[in-house]
Formats: sequence, C-alpha cells, structure tokens
Amino acid sequence: MPRASGLFETCLTSNKHLIRWVEKMADLMQPENIHWVDGSQEEYDRLCQVLVNSDTFIKLNEELWPGCYYARSAPNDVARVEDRTFICSLSKDNAGPTNNWEDPFVMRRKLKSLFRGAMRGRTMYVLPFSMGPLGSPMARIGVQLTDSAYAVVNMRIMARIGLPVFAEIDKDEQRVVPCVHSVGAPLSPGQKDVPWPCNDEKYIVHFPETREIWSYGSGYGGNALLGKKCFALRIASNIARDEGWMAEHMLILGVESPGGEKTYVAAAFPSACGKTNFAMLIPPREFEGWKITTVGDDIAWITADDSGQLRAINPEAGFFGVAPGTSSKTNPNAMATLRKNTIFTNVAMTPALGVWWEGMTDEPPAECLDWKGHPWTPEIGRQTGATAAHPNGRFTAPASQCPVMDDAWESPLGVPIAAIVFGGRRSKNIPLVYQAFNWSAGVYMGATMGSETTAAAAGATGKVRRDPMAMLPFCGYHMGDYLRAWLRMQRTLTKTPRIFNVNWFRKDEDGKFLWPGFGQNFRILRWIVDRARGRALAKETPIGWTPYYEDIHWEGLDFAEAQFDQLQHVDRAAWKKEVIDHEDLFISLHDHLPPEMVYERELLICRL
Ligand code: GTP
Ligand code: SPV
Ligand code: MN
Repeated sequence: MPRASGLFETCLTSNKHLIRWVEKMADLMQPENIHWVDGSQEEYDRLCQVLVNSDTFIKLNEELWPGCYYARSAPNDVARVEDRTFICSLSKDNAGPTNNWEDPFVMRRKLKSLFRGAMRGRTMYVLPFSMGPLGSPMARIGVQLTDSAYAVVNMRIMARIGLPVFAEIDKDEQRVVPCVHSVGAPLSPGQKDVPWPCNDEKYIVHFPETREIWSYGSGYGGNALLGKKCFALRIASNIARDEGWMAEHMLILGVESPGGEKTYVAAAFPSACGKTNFAMLIPPREFEGWKITTVGDDIAWITADDSGQLRAINPEAGFFGVAPGTSSKTNPNAMATLRKNTIFTNVAMTPALGVWWEGMTDEPPAECLDWKGHPWTPEIGRQTGATAAHPNGRFTAPASQCPVMDDAWESPLGVPIAAIVFGGRRSKNIPLVYQAFNWSAGVYMGATMGSETTAAAAGATGKVRRDPMAMLPFCGYHMGDYLRAWLRMQRTLTKTPRIFNVNWFRKDEDGKFLWPGFGQNFRILRWIVDRARGRALAKETPIGWTPYYEDIHWEGLDFAEAQFDQLQHVDRAAWKKEVIDHEDLFISLHDHLPPEMVYERELLICRL
C-alpha cells in the first residue's frame, strides 16, 4: 500500500502511474470520498444497499426474483446518445465522416471545465476492469473512475473487475485505458440526491491516439458502462487496426450437431436487431440432438491465429439485454439467465415487486408501475399508447447464469470462426438469407448493410440507415479505413470464413412479419453451417447464393414454398434503388474507400 493518508487510505494498487492519475483526477473532480473497488460480493451487496438507500434501486421480491434489483432512469437518460458521441483524433480525417469530431485540444479544454468539481459531494469509485478473461493474450485492461455506484454494480456483472485486475496492473506496470465517468450532478453540502442523477448536457468522448475515454452527464448503458461500447468497440477498434485484429459488434455462437461436430459463427446485427436472441436460440423440437451454445451476445474480438484461422473471444462477462420482447417463448435461455442476480432498468414493476415488460407474457398484469413510476394498466396503455416498459428497457445479467454458455466461452484463445453473418432490420427488399460470392463481396455486403433505427439510440426509430458491419455508432476511426482493414484481414487467413446476410424482419403488405423468427432461425443457421462446411447446395442470384426451398429443413414448420419465395424475392427495381443508397455512403467515404468496394458495386449493378 503506497499511501496511507487522506483519500488514499484504502488504495489497492502499487502502480505509480495509476495512483498519480487518480490523484490528478480527484483534484479535478473534487469527490468527497475515494473508493477503490475490490470487486467482492460483499462490496457489491453493500453498494446495492447504498443504491436502495438513495432510491436508485428497489430490491425485488426475494422469492420471485432472488438477488435482483430494479432501477428507473431519468426520462432524459434512456439510451446511447450518438449525436453527443465524439471521436477526438488529432486529425479530423482520421475520425471520418461517420463520426462526430472535435479538435482534441478544444475538447480537452471543454472537458476540464465540465469535470471541474463534477463529483463534489459524491464518492469517486476507482474501478479496474478487464475486457476478456484475465490472463488471456487478447484481454485488455481499463480503469474507470466513476461517481455512479449504479455503473459500478453493473460493471461487476458486465466485466471482470476488482482485485485480480489490480494485481494484473501491478504485475508489469501494464498500460491501461483510462476511463473517466461522471453523471455531472455534483451535490452541495446538505443537498438531497435524486434517484437517477444525470445532466441534460452529455458528452461521450474518445481520444483514440491516447486511448482515453471521458463520459459526462449520463448514467445509462453504453454511455456509462465504459468497458462496453466506448472501450471494447470504439477504442478497441483503434487498437485492433494498429495491431492487425478486429473489434466487432458481433455475437458468437456454437452449433453442435447430433454427431458432435462443432461450428462457431459470429454475427453482426445493429443494436436491438436480434443478437442476444440469435446467440441463445433453441432449435425447434424436431431437431433433436442439435445444440446452440453461447460465447457472447454483443461484442467479439477477433484475431487470426498462427495457422491462419480466425479466432474470437467475448470480451464481456454479462449481458446488457433488451427486455421488451424477451419471453419464455421467444428466448427461454435469456429468461433463465435473468431469473436471479439481475439488475432491471426501465421496465415495469408489479405490485408483488416483480418485473414485467411488453411481450414477457401474453397477458399484461392487471396493474403495475411503468418505467417512469406512474400507475399503468392495460386500459391506460390502450388509451394513451404508453408502454409499461421503455422500449430500450434492459436487464444486466451474468453470462455464467445462461444455461447454454459454451464450454469454451472463457477460453483465453477464443473459438475458431467458420462463418460471419450480417443482418439488419429491414421490412422490405432484403431476403431472409443469402451468401456472398467471396470475401470481398462479403465485405461489400457488410459495408452496405442497412437497418431501421431502433430505441437503443436516442432519436427517431424505424428509419433505414446504412450501418456498415453494424459498426456505424461504434467504429472509432475512418469507416473507409475500417473497410480496408476488413479486406486486409483475409490476406492473413488460410481458411476464409464464409459470409452471409440475414433479415428476420421482412414484412408483408399488412405489416406482418413474413418469417416466424427466434428458434425458427435455426433452420437458416443450419444452412449457413452446411454452406460454410461446403456441403449444401445453393442457387446463384444477382446478390449472392441463396438456398433452394429444398435446401432448408422444414420438418415441424408449415411453411409453403410460395411463402419462402416471397421472403427470398429479389426485386431488381428495388435493388437498383438500394444500390444508389450504397453510393451515398461511398461518396462520403470517397478518398478512403477501398477500390474493391467500387468494383463490387459495379459488378452488382451489372448483375442486376
Ligand atoms: P442490443 O443489445 O441493443 O445490441 O440488441 P440485440 O441485437 O442483442 O437484439 P435482441 O436480441 O435483444 O433483440 C431486440 C428485439 O428484437 C427484441 O425485442 C426481440 O424480441 C426482437 N427480435 C429478436 N430476434 C427476432 C426475430 O428473429 N424475429 C423478430 N420478429 N424479432 C426478433
Ligand atoms: C447497443 O446499443 O448496441 C447495446 C446497448 O448493446 S448499449 O450498451 O447501451 O450500447
Ligand atoms: Mn449491442
């Protein structure tokens, strides 16, 4: 213990750089106390009690929801804030046209003034965390300073934290990613706190060259749990580019056949477009002996091993999952995962101190309190249109509680990836499934992916936007260079994964989903695995390889060939319009756009 006085009485590291930085930040932000996070269960319980005392948490019914807590955020702090997210690289060109940029010197000055005294009256937690299993060559360490106990307890579920991480930092004076987080709501002496402190003004700032994160004004999700989107995607994508690996917004799952053959698949879908559901899917009853296992549900760090095989780890340790729509019918594994030791945020609370959200049960509860704490009944819902849960209401649950976690989910070297799947939420035009002709066509497919916006980010929902590799809000550098990195990756591979696109969300003229989705997606996944292993047939279309009706296993599902044709239909006129949208993205990337993308587009136009 290096210092034994004042604010540093309980210091848990001997790393001089770290201590000096904590000191400097404490000087800037003026917290009342400093708490070095050891990560123990006892500390977690204590912090949850602190949150109960401050009315941030309500302890749920211990019989129904053992070890679970309930939180409501402020109504102006419910999702990621993309328009307040900045990549402050030295040159604007490095951030590219898809990121908000500010001059790092200007931004630092701004942050200094925002953070000066920002933690007054609060405790500053020093929270060390590892993204990836401790000791894995792929793991990376960060330290988050935060004045939010809510962030600390959520981070304990989402990442490996505490003493073992300090030990790792001390071992070889390892470089860590400094992350500063304040809800931006200092307390004056005697001032009573609110249940969800935050600030109207929000800044989510990344300095890619110095690998730093500064987050101000929000306590919610990816804005506040800095290991997730800020570190594991925006900063990590920069590290990955420099070191020749990939940080992707992807789930990772394993497919095990009755004969014991194991195939791992990674899939990139934008926020609230089905990653958690796909990662945990249960095959329909008819596919006895087949098993899907979960490695991760949101982020994959992928690298080529010495033999030229892509391998992926899940850098996280928990799920921060969308609650609405999650039920024992759609995702029984998620329901089992969140049964205990889970934090629920912005869902509804029942009179018995349980939770509810739209889609959880067929019948809504007769009465409950909605995510704002107001009384809600099905009748009120009908009259006002208000939902009981916020559409971005979430559960934070430990991955270890998921009944189908893969045996290798914490393997330090990750799992081998045989196929990569892209997919968006598209009510029109995009077929249920098709396969890219080759890697560069696959990169084009991912680069030009479109998806309708969801409640996971603040702003309008339901608008189609280009979301390359589901990384639009998460790529921490120029999107054109990112596509280059994708193309370059293939040169290091001996076995190139096959690339696919899926769309579970195509609708008919009446706005009804054409595809039942969820567990039924297994039928499509099975074709993907068979194609990746070179043993399923396919039909050539202008946009890629697609399955014949007979190539999908239909047992147990009454799905006519005509319905399948409707789902798979490629409307050439609509696709020509689609390609014009691709051009818009490409024009914005102009001088950084890899030539392969231009050629792929030309080929596609010719085929159409
Ligand atoms: P993030 O955590 O924001 O990254 O979301 P995600 O990509 O993990 O999405 P998730 O699996 O949580 O699903 C989001 C919403 O889409 C939920 O309301 C699901 O019920 C719904 N959903 C997921 N899969 C399907 C599907 O196959 N069909 C349909 N119709 N809806 C789905
Ligand atoms: C997403 O929006 O992709 C999420 C939720 O997974 S958050 O952690 O808030 O980014
Ligand atoms: Mn996500």
